[in-house]
Amino acid sequence: MSGIRPTGFLHLGNYFGALRNYVRMQEEYECFFMVADLHSLTTHPDTKELKLNVHRVLSENIASGLDPDKVALYCQSHIHETAELYLYLNMLAYKGELEKTATFKDKVRQQPDNSNAGLLTYPVLQTADIIIHRASLVPVGKDQEQHLEMARNFVNRFNHRYGDVFPEPQAFNYGSELVKVPSLDGSGKMSKSENQNATLFLSDDDELVRKKVMKAKTDSGPLEKNSQKPGYIENIFLLMKLVSSDDTIKKFEEDFNNCTIRYGDMKKQLAEDMVKFITPIRQKAEAIRNDEKYLKFIMEKGAEKANKSAKATMELVRQAIGLNYY
Ligand code: TRP
Repeated sequence: MSGIRPTGFLHLGNYFGALRNYVRMQEEYECFFMVADLHSLTTHPDTKELKLNVHRVLSENIASGLDPDKVALYCQSHIHETAELYLYLNMLAYKGELEKTATFKDKVRQQPDNSNAGLLTYPVLQTADIIIHRASLVPVGKDQEQHLEMARNFVNRFNHRYGDVFPEPQAFNYGSELVKVPSLDGSGKMSKSENQNATLFLSDDDELVRKKVMKAKTDSGPLEKNSQKPGYIENIFLLMKLVSSDDTIKKFEEDFNNCTIRYGDMKKQLAEDMVKFITPIRQKAEAIRNDEKYLKFIMEKGAEKANKSAKATMELVRQAIGLNYY
């Protein structure tokens, strides 16, 4: 089980960091992937944009290979039982531990006038999302580790107080496969908030992809054979490894090692390979986004699967708590 925030467009870092794992997991596990629309309300966004954002994130996920026939792909707000479970879990979550959460502290710093209870209990709702399906594997990035640790605490408290209902959820990834997707400006990772001109989005058109790649930081090339690559050059090779053929990579490695490399050519090649990679995803996502009937169908089907699982869990939860009077 995992949740996807309906904010912004997906970029290459999201694709290789998260999405590719989802696509692989769908072949091996029973999966629930949810658009976290309720969580997004904690920061008081303009809700007129919610629908477009939800449609967009669903389209991009499906275009990237998530298969609504294989997984339950649904919206958080369509599973009402989550709100009930969230309420029970709130009785097991302490003010002190919630206030210590790194993401809460960040948000309070960013928006001091809006430190609402929903933000404070964000990890409680996230726990409800996960355990409503009694899920045990949660594919998430490093930034979510603290939330998962809190989820395990809430689960253990619940099980201890009311009886064993939930497995302990664990962060999951395909180990060695964690890939870094470096930003094109030579520092850090691609990110939607940092430098948008150095981040490739799945929605970028061909010209924009070319323009961004051609602007990537390079220098005049190595002077000594087999020298070590500076970080920003290493990054271009890393990006190439994501989308280019082995032969292409080998050619530029050799050119680098014997000091004949021309970074202009390398970037042109990378740009074309990026275009070839991104274009079909962008086009497919656009087609899905324009097909509201299909999106509605997908969301209904996803909600149906998720609701079935949620209802079964809540029967157990109410029994365990003792909310069974007849
Ligand atoms: N908090 C997650 C994020 O910021 C999104 C999320 C919501 C989530 N519910 C979840 C992730 C449940 C995993 C499981 O990305």
